[in-house]
Amino acid sequence: MIKINNLSKSFNGKPVLQNINLTIPDGKTMVIVGQSGCGKTVLLRSIIGLMHPDSGSILINNKDITKMSQSELFQVRLDFGMLFQGAALFDSMTVRENVGLALNEHTTLSREQISEKVDERLSMVGLDTIGDKYPSELSGGMKKRVGLARALIMDPKYVLYDEPTTGLDPIMSEQINKLIMDTHSQLDVTSIIVTHDMHSAFTVGDIIAMIVDGRVIFCGTVDEFQSSDHEYVKRFAVLQFGAS
Ligand SMILES: Nc1ncnc2c1ncn2[C@@H]1O[C@H](COP(=O)(O)OP(=O)(O)O)[C@@H](O)[C@H]1O
Ligand SMILES: [Mg+2]
Repeated sequence: MIKINNLSKSFNGKPVLQNINLTIPDGKTMVIVGQSGCGKTVLLRSIIGLMHPDSGSILINNKDITKMSQSELFQVRLDFGMLFQGAALFDSMTVRENVGLALNEHTTLSREQISEKVDERLSMVGLDTIGDKYPSELSGGMKKRVGLARALIMDPKYVLYDEPTTGLDPIMSEQINKLIMDTHSQLDVTSIIVTHDMHSAFTVGDIIAMIVDGRVIFCGTVDEFQSSDHEYVKRFAVLQFGAS
C-alpha cells in the first residue's frame, strides 16, 4: 500500500502541492487527474524519491520514502516501474538495450536470460520485431510502449505512469489504455496513473483523485466521480469530453 500524508511542496515560494492525502491500496489502479501544471509530475517523482517534499510523508509498505538514505531508496525503487512523460528513452541505445538496461545493471542474469526477458516484455507490448531499432526511428506511441516494456522489466510491484496517452491519437491511446489494463491483470501490480485524459481515467481507473490548485478536491470510484455533485468535478468531466 502507498499512503501519502499531508504532502506539501513549493517552488520559489509558490505552493504546488498542498497537504495531499491519498491512499492507494495494493492491487488497485489510482488515476490522478488535474490540469497541466497542477503538480502531477511533482507528485509522481516524490513517490519514488526523485523529488523531496517540504513536509509530509510517503509510506511504501509502512516505510517513509522521504526519510530514506540513498541506499534504502535504491532498494525501494527496484519495486517501482515508471513510464515517464515522453518515455525518456536513451537515444544512443537500441530498443532492446533500453528495455534490458536495469537487468544489466541490477541483476546477475546471463545475457541469454536478459535477452529472453526483454523479448517477453517487448512481446507483451506488441513490439517483438523492433528490438534493433533506435528510439529516433519510432513513433510516439511506440516509444511509450517501449517505455512501458522498460518499466516492467524488473517485475515491479508498483507501476507509475506519467501522462501515458498524452499526445497520442485516439487509436493509439486505446492501445495504451488496453496495455495498462493487461499489465494490471497479468502482473498483479498496484498502479498510479497521472493524466488529464478523462476518457483514459474512466477506462483504466479503480479510484480517481482530482487535484486542483495543489489540493485533492475529490477522491472516489469512477461511479462516484461520474455522479459527483462537485461543481469542478462536473465541469472537468464535461470539458474533457466536449459534451454540452
Ligand atoms: N524542478 C522544478 N523547479 C521549479 N518549479 C518546478 C519544478 N518542477 C515543477 N515545477 C513547477 O511546479 C508546477 C507543477 O509542475 P508539474 O508537476 O510538472 O505539473 P503537471 O501537473 O503538468 O505534471 C509547475 O508550475 C512547474 O513549473
Ligand atoms: Mg506532468
